[in-house]
Amino acid sequence: MFPDGTISAAMKLFVATLTLFLCVSAPAQLLASEPGSTCEKCHMELDEGQPDTPTTLFKNDVHNREGLGCAGCHGGDPTSDDEEVAMSEEKGFIGAPDELEIPEFCSKCHSNPSFMKQFDPGLSTYQYSKYLTSVHGIRNAAHDRKTAQCVSCHTAHGIRAADDPKSTIYAQNVPNTCAGCHSDKDYMADYEIPTDQFADFSRSVHGIALLENGDMGAPACNDCHGNHGAVPPEVSSIDHVCGICHANNMDDFEASTHFEYFEMLKMPACETCHSNHRIERPTTEMLQGEKSVCKQCHDLDDGTGGIETAESMRNALDSLNMLMTQVNNKIDEADRKGLYVDNMLFSMRDARQKEYTARTAVHTFNLEKVTKISREGIELVLKTDGVTDDLLDSYVFRRKGLVVSVVLLCLLAGLLWMKARQADMRQQKQ
Ligand code: HEC
Ligand code: HEC
Ligand code: HEC
Ligand code: HEC
Ligand code: HEC
Ligand code: HEC
Ligand code: HEC
Ligand code: HEC
Ligand code: HEC
Repeated sequence: MFPDGTISAAMKLFVATLTLFLCVSAPAQLLASEPGSTCEKCHMELDEGQPDTPTTLFKNDVHNREGLGCAGCHGGDPTSDDEEVAMSEEKGFIGAPDELEIPEFCSKCHSNPSFMKQFDPGLSTYQYSKYLTSVHGIRNAAHDRKTAQCVSCHTAHGIRAADDPKSTIYAQNVPNTCAGCHSDKDYMADYEIPTDQFADFSRSVHGIALLENGDMGAPACNDCHGNHGAVPPEVSSIDHVCGICHANNMDDFEASTHFEYFEMLKMPACETCHSNHRIERPTTEMLQGEKSVCKQCHDLDDGTGGIETAESMRNALDSLNMLMTQVNNKIDEADRKGLYVDNMLFSMRDARQKEYTARTAVHTFNLEKVTKISREGIELVLKTDGVTDDLLDSYVFRRKGLVVSVVLLCLLAGLLWMKARQADMRQQKQ
């Protein structure tokens, strides 16, 4: 049917294409064919009935999902039934790596961009290089077996992606993963650092938001400390990590005179007043009184006016807040009476925004700014108060009007009734 040459040319093209395809996808193909490998088959029998063994854990491992089997990490020949052959050095068998070698063991793939690109081009390949700069990595390089390496945070055979809620590195699970070592007094006894980070964090505004209220915008340990490096890539130093999310506070602070004072005194930017792990919900008590954070550096006769400024800031913020509470109560009352209060709620929302801005402006250390914004808030609240009063007054007026008309109507009804009765009686007499 075909001339001889056509078939052989077509065959050659086909073979060439197939070869090219196999070469390009060889690493992935080889590994992808592994599920059902002899490694897994034999080890499944060894592991029979026991929980937490490599083969049972591996069912949900991200590497298994990608078709990377036991040999992807451990080497060896996944096609041989013979233990001696399958796990022989000639076939590149590595066995279980020592803790100190795990970072390199995982990084033969994870630091290889051209290999990783075949699976997920978006996945970073800098975990190892960053890890080397962290305290964990530095300690690992110094042969410390207790420091964290890849498996301490990711596990060895049940590794899941960061966005998998069951993963040890899912945001809400990270604090517990770190606490496994950092809250264990005995484990950390050789080191000179405290073991209260998790306990403090879980009681902080951030911990409550993340762990109890499921607010995924709140930071877990790694958002401040970095996933693999010493700090997240966005910041030069952990002193400035809060600014990733609280940009306005950071901008105000950096533009203030105190930025230089703090640098001079070697005090960290936000931690000095808010702490790092046990951050409480701020109130004006942080300005003046027992809990004043300004008192750390200021006293009444230091001649800077710091204490007086703090007190005036507190007065301005407290006045706005008290007034807001009063007017909110009044609006609630109007609401309960069925009056239309949407407009008032709207302007109170603006006032609340002013209060929020004024509290942020504390970080300028500029009294005028704080009082100016508070005053604008107070004016808004007073205006709303006036409107609410008018509404309530007109309600009372209308209520009075209603009572009067009801009484008049009753009188009228009574009169009509009497008239009707008189007419009845007259008729009966006739
Ligand atoms: C026919 C059975 C069999 C096959 C096939 C097999 N293994 Fe094993 N494997 C074993 C036994 C038995 C042990 C020893 C268990 C022990 O010492 O507790 C072992 C041990 C291991 C260890 C731990 C070694 C260490 O250093 O502690 C690893 C890792 C391992 N196998 C991986 C593999 C991989 C990867 C493959 C496939 C390439 C494979 N095995 C194929 C039976 C098998
Ligand atoms: C992502 C890489 C990776 C893959 C894939 C992997 N392992 Fe491992 N395996 C490790 C690491 C790392 C260790 C050392 C664990 C440790 O120190 O806790 C280890 C240890 C082991 C051990 C000895 C210690 C133990 O936990 O019992 C065995 C046996 C083992 N692996 C078998 C397997 C088998 C069977 C498979 C396939 C079902 C497999 N591994 C797949 C990374 C891997
Ligand atoms: C101290 C704990 C810790 C150690 C040690 C650690 N990781 Fe991670 N890793 C994390 C956390 C937390 C995330 C997830 C962050 C997120 O939410 O994206 C992560 C994410 C990853 C990811 C997903 C991509 C990415 O970069 O976000 C890979 C891959 C990864 N780690 C590999 C490694 C390797 C390889 C090592 C060892 C060199 C290692 N990790 C060591 C905690 C750790
Ligand atoms: C044989 C190569 C190879 C080895 C060795 C390897 N990985 Fe992976 N890893 C991959 C590939 C491929 C993916 C899948 C990427 C994807 O599709 O998301 C992956 C995914 C991951 C993820 C999930 C990333 C995400 O999407 O959030 C983590 C975490 C991870 N690996 C950690 C490790 C750790 C820890 C080790 C060492 C114990 C290790 N890997 C060893 C190839 C490897
Ligand atoms: C396997 C145990 C282990 C795990 C898990 C672990 N760490 Fe560590 N970490 C250590 C050890 C040990 C040190 C060294 C302490 C030292 O040198 O002072 C350390 C040091 C640190 C340091 C530096 C402390 C300093 O000296 O200033 C930080 C920050 C840190 N870890 C954060 C984390 C975070 C965040 C996580 C979780 C994502 C985590 N660690 C998980 C064991 C662990
Ligand atoms: C809101 C940011 C933030 C979060 C969240 C956070 N940290 Fe920290 N952490 C810091 C800052 C800032 C320091 C102080 C660093 C310094 O002074 O060098 C610190 C210090 C540390 C240290 C050094 C020892 C110490 O206590 O001073 C360890 C260890 C540590 N954190 C672990 C953790 C762990 C574990 C978690 C989660 C349970 C966590 N951190 C959550 C910001 C944070
Ligand atoms: C990853 C983002 C993120 C980082 C980093 C972060 N925060 Fe927060 N922070 C939040 C979120 C979200 C809330 C809101 C929680 C709530 O109100 O329930 C919050 C709340 C707060 C509050 C209470 C605010 C209020 O109006 O009551 C303070 C104070 C605070 N953070 C200080 C800090 C400090 C100090 C740091 C650095 C050590 C920091 N934050 C780092 C996200 C972050
Ligand atoms: C000198 C002490 C001091 C420093 C430094 C400081 N704060 Fe504050 N912060 C306060 C005080 C006081 C309040 C309470 C104001 C109020 O609620 O009345 C506050 C309130 C806050 C609030 C809640 C109000 C708002 O703006 O939402 C956040 C968030 C906050 N600070 C974050 C930060 C961050 C981020 C830094 C670092 C850039 C920082 N603070 C540095 C004293 C400080
Ligand atoms: C870490 C120490 C530190 C803390 C905390 C601190 N200050 Fe200061 N403050 C200083 C220093 C240093 C000066 C400069 C003193 C001088 O000029 O002699 C200063 C000066 C001032 C001044 C004078 C005007 C100026 O900006 O130079 C005011 C006002 C002031 N502080 C207000 C406050 C308030 C309000 C707080 C609390 C919210 C506060 N400070 C917290 C260190 C601090």
